[in-house]
Amino acid sequence: MPRCGLTVDSLNPKVLALADHLGDDAIARRAQCIQNEIETKPGSHPFDEIIYCSLSNPQSMGQQPNKFFREVLALCNYPHLLEQSETNSLFSSDAIARAREILDLFPGRATGGYSHCQGIEGLRDIIAAGIASRDNFPCNAEDIFLTDGAAPPVHMMMHLLIRDQKDGILCPIPSHSLYTSYMVLQGATLVPYYLDESRGWGVSMSDLKKQLDGARSMGVVVRGLVVINPGNPTGHVLVEENQREIVDFCRNEDLVLLADEVYQENIYTDEKKFHSFKKIARSMGYGEGDISLVSFHSVSNGYYGECGRRGGYMEVTGFNSEVKKQVYKVASLSSCSNISGQILMSLVMNPPRVGDESYTAYQAERDSILSSFARCAEAMVCTFNRLEGVTCSKAEGAMFVFPSVRLPKKAIAAAEESNTQPDAFYALRLLETTGIVVVPGSVFGQIHGTWHFRCTVLPQEEKLPLIISRFMAFHEVFMEEFRD
Ligand SMILES: Cc1ncc(COP(=O)(O)O)c(C=O)c1O
Repeated sequence: MPRCGLTVDSLNPKVLALADHLGDDAIARRAQCIQNEIETKPGSHPFDEIIYCSLSNPQSMGQQPNKFFREVLALCNYPHLLEQSETNSLFSSDAIARAREILDLFPGRATGGYSHCQGIEGLRDIIAAGIASRDNFPCNAEDIFLTDGAAPPVHMMMHLLIRDQKDGILCPIPSHSLYTSYMVLQGATLVPYYLDESRGWGVSMSDLKKQLDGARSMGVVVRGLVVINPGNPTGHVLVEENQREIVDFCRNEDLVLLADEVYQENIYTDEKKFHSFKKIARSMGYGEGDISLVSFHSVSNGYYGECGRRGGYMEVTGFNSEVKKQVYKVASLSSCSNISGQILMSLVMNPPRVGDESYTAYQAERDSILSSFARCAEAMVCTFNRLEGVTCSKAEGAMFVFPSVRLPKKAIAAAEESNTQPDAFYALRLLETTGIVVVPGSVFGQIHGTWHFRCTVLPQEEKLPLIISRFMAFHEVFMEEFRD
């Protein structure tokens, strides 16, 4: 072995703290191991496939990419196709027209060069127009930063806000580990606020105030508040009134509102609609000078599920020009986001319209994917609510259901004996017995003494009956084994 002065102990301690925070991912590793065993020794497990209900990665679960989006992308990536006569029969006419329009936005029609660090100006114009038509309020293309998905700009904003460990951000619990992890990596103080499961995972304003005051009394300088709407892992959609309360809270307490809106297309209830926080703030009469608000969107979710393409944007509003310059400076450190992601994001915000050749097929693809998620969500909620000791809030949006399981004391004791969190113990048993993979609630945070798991609504519908019957049989046996 060559001599190397680098040891784990000599690494940045915040990176090591992050590893502790994320845990050892035992379930994912075990699932991979079982998958290999099934392939090499068929019949070695009581099931013949691993069913991943843990991954928010639609195309890895069999979802097909949107045809129009991919046609435009292919033509932009290989403009030579636009000169070929066969292209007119292989590609739809509006995809060809759109690819030409997009290519014209690139200096020299070169899609392989760096772009402006905020993204191609013409694409930002398209996205700003899409946001304005979604919200019915103006959007300025100068406020848009095109990004490699939503995670990098979230990190960027946290980087800008957090100066030292005294600085904190209010984060929902449970929440996607993106936020809590980056707080650990920045060495910042996580100020948790607890979503109210009894009110469909809404934000309790009294808890928010209590957590903020508590943190401030300990000397923490709270800089911002994260809201994920629709929610991951909770699958809730906030009611408008709650959104207004949150906007007022941030305004009154001088907090930057970081609105994660990556699941804005994934709504499964007629009772609620997605409203961006910017729309809510503007409809309350608050303009640029009243509230600092950053919203994040991405091509990873929705009906497009193009997570591997890495496209997204953040819309930065209510920051003065000096601060904006600093945002720009940090954005410029990574040169620019990838061009395919930029193009995709523009297509998401400006899809085919009535009269375009692709419109009918595009709508059919979109509706079929979203209605399949909705049916899957409903079947899962219904199943989980029939299980002993399990309650599951309505799946309103995003891609998840997040049931609560009242685990018997004996199961908790058995988990402790094997040095495992009780919900991870349950999830591991589920995996060993059925091949179904879910994510334990402890990964996202939860109120002490409650146990949950997150299950995605992405599995192919034909697999649902199998998932449901295996889950029900497993749970019954588990409860029988550990009943107090
Ligand atoms: C709530 C939430 N925010 C952000 C992200 C990051 O998404 P992206 O792939 O756009 O970086 C995810 C990914 O699943 C998410 O669930």
